[in-house]
Amino acid sequence: MSAHLLDLIDVHKTLGAQKVLRGVNLQIAEGENMVIIGRSGGGKSVLLRHIMGLVRPDKGQVWYRGHDLATISEENLTFVRREMGMLFQNGALFDSLNVGENVAFSLREEGKLAEADIQKEVQRALKIVDLPGQENKMPSELSGGMRKRVALARAAISRPKLMLYDEPTAGLDPIVSDSINKLILRLGEDLNMTAIIVTHDMVSAYEIADRIAMLHEGKIYCVDTPQTIQNSEDPIIKRFVRGISAETDAIF
Ligand SMILES: Nc1ncnc2c1ncn2[C@@H]1O[C@H](COP(=O)(O)OP(=O)(O)O)[C@@H](O)[C@H]1O
Ligand SMILES: [Mg+2]
Repeated sequence: MSAHLLDLIDVHKTLGAQKVLRGVNLQIAEGENMVIIGRSGGGKSVLLRHIMGLVRPDKGQVWYRGHDLATISEENLTFVRREMGMLFQNGALFDSLNVGENVAFSLREEGKLAEADIQKEVQRALKIVDLPGQENKMPSELSGGMRKRVALARAAISRPKLMLYDEPTAGLDPIVSDSINKLILRLGEDLNMTAIIVTHDMVSAYEIADRIAMLHEGKIYCVDTPQTIQNSEDPIIKRFVRGISAETDAIF
């Protein structure tokens, strides 16, 4: 069996008039932290939605542990999706539910565990994100970084095999971002998860990634180690990772 947890083959998707994905190929190994970078509006969130099976490609295959999510039945997709957790880009909490209720949400929906066990799982998840005993706080009482932690606990509570993070540090200051990055790494180790992290923050990308994939013009332009990406002389990669605009480039 292949060691790949995920294998995207020639994935195409047009949305509206726009060819967003134009033949994405990407393999992700079990246990690795894959960071996906690329321009805003370039299709990173759309790609994550394909990996979760929330969107099906027009053409191509999305293999996850022996299932092609492009053609899988809705019933099987429900089971596959239980192995995945997603921290959405604007991963808002339910404002009318307290922290404990937010974190317990997916377990309650699944309806498999007794209430006492759900409480135990919530306690465990809040401990992992350094918010032990905060069950009764309301989201409005929390800082941005704390809300992110609660959202992380909520996404990780069912111990997914694969965690997807969409811009987990967007809008957070560098210190809070750094603590979220460390948490992502720790969650991966503690729960033995594979992670795909979309970010345009290169500091975070270098800190978290085993490998970095760059989405450019609807395709994966390159996949490599953080060090190789950082030192790349390829003009497209360089321009993106060092934040040099085409205009500035022309002046020098
Ligand atoms: N449901 C949709 N319908 C039409 N266009 C969409 C839809 N979702 C995303 N898009 C478009 O696809 C492109 C890629 O979006 P997205 O994946 O959100 O980019 P990003 O890389 O910033 O996450 C954008 O131009 C966006 O407007
Ligand atoms: Mg996005």
